Amino acid sequence: MALALIVSGAGCNRPLPEQNSAAARLYANRCGQCHRAYNPGSLSAAMWQVQVEMMEAKMRQDHVPALTYQERDEILRYLTRNAARD
Ligand code: HEC
Repeated sequence: MALALIVSGAGCNRPLPEQNSAAARLYANRCGQCHRAYNPGSLSAAMWQVQVEMMEAKMRQDHVPALTYQERDEILRYLTRNAARD
């Protein structure tokens, strides 16, 4: 899968943007449960939109508690404002 190469190639050990903010912590907690929390700058905002939807399906499959509407909104806004420019 092409996306795998893009994500793993970019920004491996860079700290997350807005480190220690509520949004960064929420993102790390909710999106770092099954794999490390990928750096927002490794994908464009449009790609994050798709990716978060795919991850919600994975959460359902794995019986991880679903994102609430507010969590989803906050995570997407966090990812979008720190996303790669496309
Ligand atoms: C229930 C476990 C689980 C949670 C929680 C989860 N993911 Fe994932 N994620 C996966 C799995 C499994 C894969 C890789 C395989 C696949 O895509 O089928 C993946 C892949 C990814 C990828 C692609 C990585 C690549 O190398 O292709 C991104 C980006 C990603 N997740 C972001 C997120 C975000 C953002 C969240 C929070 C909304 C999140 N994940 C939460 C299980 C999870």
